[in-house]
Amino acid sequence: MIKLENINKVYRTDTIETLALNTINLAVAQGEFLSIMGPSGCGKSTLLNIMGLIDEPSGGRIEVAGQVVANYNSKATARFRNQHLGFIFQSFHLINDLSVIDNVELPLLYRQVSGKERRQLAQVALEQVGLKNRMSHFPGQLSGGQKQRVAIARSIVGRPNIILADEPTGNLDSVMGNEIMDILLRLNAEDGATIVMVTHDESMARRTHRLVRLFDGSQVQ
Ligand SMILES: Nc1ncnc2c1ncn2[C@@H]1O[C@H](COP(=O)(O)OP(=O)(O)OP(=O)(O)O)[C@@H](O)[C@H]1O
Ligand SMILES: [Mg+2]
Repeated sequence: MIKLENINKVYRTDTIETLALNTINLAVAQGEFLSIMGPSGCGKSTLLNIMGLIDEPSGGRIEVAGQVVANYNSKATARFRNQHLGFIFQSFHLINDLSVIDNVELPLLYRQVSGKERRQLAQVALEQVGLKNRMSHFPGQLSGGQKQRVAIARSIVGRPNIILADEPTGNLDSVMGNEIMDILLRLNAEDGATIVMVTHDESMARRTHRLVRLFDGSQVQ
């Protein structure tokens, strides 16, 4: 589903050059639930952003859902990203001026979906994360775990076949974290979503199919 070949990422500032990713070769199979661990700064978010076509590698080849990605700024890539990929960010990235259900509908705005259908799909996604009773709330009126569940609903509303999650349980206590993990496991097992999750939590990683460890931009396991 995702194939990375010899991926490098170099960040350059005026004074320093950082090799954030060093010759990463990694394949994620369809239906796989992969976790990525490693110390802070080792390149986990960079790797996830490259898999999600948010960030362009400095070198190497990437294939997602059978397509070789060439031009990162094209409309075609934006559409491809919108159709195939769902993101869950550690800091939620919700829009505070929009209600919960409007937040969840956002990815559908770029598609040919009627307003009525958007509502319905957003309701189904919120139901899946157990938040049907919070649809008209605003993000500021929700707990951290609830915000994370809204972010998950938004990431799955367009039925992406790949979900990329950057420390989705990082800000939550262990009870809430386990609930989020249950939702992700269900999306993987029942809906067949391919999931890549960055985590600092060994117990979360153990619940996934495979663990990849990064150190200083290189894969060490
Ligand atoms: N925009 C940027 N410009 C320059 N350097 C960057 C940039 N983004 C990341 N880096 C550097 O690349 C390296 C990898 O960063 P990345 O965010 O991928 O780490 P991470 O493994 O996700 O860490 P954390 O666990 O703290 O989230 C770090 O050394 C970081 O300082
Ligand atoms: Mg990170």
